Amino acid sequence: MITPYTHEPFTDFSVEENKKAMEAALKQVESKLGKHHDLLVGGERISTKEKIVSVNPANKEEVVGTVSKATQEIAEKAIQTAHEAFQTWKYTKAIDRANILMRAAQIVRRRKHEFSALLIKEAGKPWKEADADTAEAIDFMEYYARQMLDLEKGKEINSRPGEFNRYFYAPTGVTVTISPWNFAFAIMAGTTVAPLVTGNTVLLKPASATPVIAAEFVEVLQEAGVPEGVVNFIPGSGAEVGDYLVDHPKTSLITFTGSRDVGTRMYERAAVVQKEQNHLKRVIVEMGGKDTVVVDKDADLDLAAESIVVSAFAFSGQKCSAGSRAVVLEEVYDEVLEKVIKLTNELTVGEAKSNDIYMGPVVDQGAYDKIMNYIEIGKQEGRLVAGGTGDDSKGYFIQPTIFADVDVNARIMQEEIFGPVVAFAKARDFDHALEIANNSEYGLTGAVITNNRDHIDQATMEFHVGNLYFNRNCTGAIVGYHPFGGFKMSGTDSKAGGPDYLTLHMLARTVSEMY
Ligand code: NAD
Ligand code: ALA
Repeated sequence: MITPYTHEPFTDFSVEENKKAMEAALKQVESKLGKHHDLLVGGERISTKEKIVSVNPANKEEVVGTVSKATQEIAEKAIQTAHEAFQTWKYTKAIDRANILMRAAQIVRRRKHEFSALLIKEAGKPWKEADADTAEAIDFMEYYARQMLDLEKGKEINSRPGEFNRYFYAPTGVTVTISPWNFAFAIMAGTTVAPLVTGNTVLLKPASATPVIAAEFVEVLQEAGVPEGVVNFIPGSGAEVGDYLVDHPKTSLITFTGSRDVGTRMYERAAVVQKEQNHLKRVIVEMGGKDTVVVDKDADLDLAAESIVVSAFAFSGQKCSAGSRAVVLEEVYDEVLEKVIKLTNELTVGEAKSNDIYMGPVVDQGAYDKIMNYIEIGKQEGRLVAGGTGDDSKGYFIQPTIFADVDVNARIMQEEIFGPVVAFAKARDFDHALEIANNSEYGLTGAVITNNRDHIDQATMEFHVGNLYFNRNCTGAIVGYHPFGGFKMSGTDSKAGGPDYLTLHMLARTVSEMY
């Protein structure tokens, strides 16, 4: 009997033993810096002339590793290989596929701090955030493995006398997984193992900023027993390899997590039926957010301030779920703003050599320039009350930044900045606060801090986001507890880590027999 699912516990780094374990893991990862990883196609390791060089965003001089870069020719070979492997993989028993995930979860669990240390180096995560990213990757494997065992049975339907009806799920075929750098382990792993456990074969194209963690994870899957050709590792340029895979007639399912522009374009491209394609592609696209923390007048204002700070600045605001807007009722606006400024000014920014660092760098020069540009825009659109400066001499560091008194239609209230910047707006009353919160093309997460039961009920119905939280921050969904995903321009609302997620990777079949 398999134990029931519970999420992987987070590590308490105030415990000396845990702190020492992470320091040792960081040393271990440092000793492997610069290592090269090849592509994996059908069990064959392929080395290419062109490489992706992964650097530490906290220290640009430090090369984390290099990874071979796939070409269209290799992508073609990988898709043919995955198509062939599908012919047998689709008939494997669910228990065998689930077992691979549970073995992989256990391998990662044993090397947990090593993976987190790699995230600290490659994605610039502070310790706590890296630990949560690794825990989430483990959770996806444990949760989806169990869910597959349940789904294998199909669902109950009715049969009439003399008739036997069945309803069950079958895999779809070759899946293209395109993942982002911000949850470089969790989302990359989750969107690889979900198609895998449902009987599909996978081509994994990770983000170019974080290919090393993906390469290490593919090795874990091999160690756990994934057969050749079932998972193929083909990092490469989004425009070159990504488009090719999305357009390919043999692609059955695309699972993408990333920006609105890339995701929307992919959604359109995938809709085109190519020559020799005899199916419609399934597309999961999970995109950006412009997420809001609403503070009611009847609320715990210390909790409100803490929730705004965590939502806006954890992992330097580089979460689709980040609370980049704070909408506060006018009666408590000044007090909440003051508390948030105070907490923000206490945050530590730097390279995460220890757990004392709250905020690391942003991911690369492009992100740094884009965020600093938004800070300039913010200076025109609001009142700068904290931060506003950056330093990209060694790594890409930006101080946590707050703009007060921002117009609800200002660019910094509407566009995803994806950095440590929060804009404050004042609401006349709770209706007005919800109106401002819903004034966005996105619909991903939101939080409401309130002690008013009627307002909790009202927001439950009217705050139009995929993940709504009361009296806490709007980030940090946990697999199996807070199924995650948004609608409007935030995506297809697939709800990763939720009870309906795996069925998106399968075809439902009805079989009816008369006797
Ligand atoms: P991105 O869109 O730049 O890249 C995502 C992936 O798409 C990368 O692997 C990239 O190489 C690839 N890509 C780029 N162009 C492509 C193309 N033409 N064809 C195919 N693939 C292509 O996003 P990012 O910067 O890696 O991630 C940040 C974004 O992701 C933010 O907008 C964030 O909100 C979003 N995000 C959303 C969720 C969610 O669950 N909704 C979770 C994490 C991140
Ligand atoms: N699942 C991540 C969160 O909730 C994106 O913050």
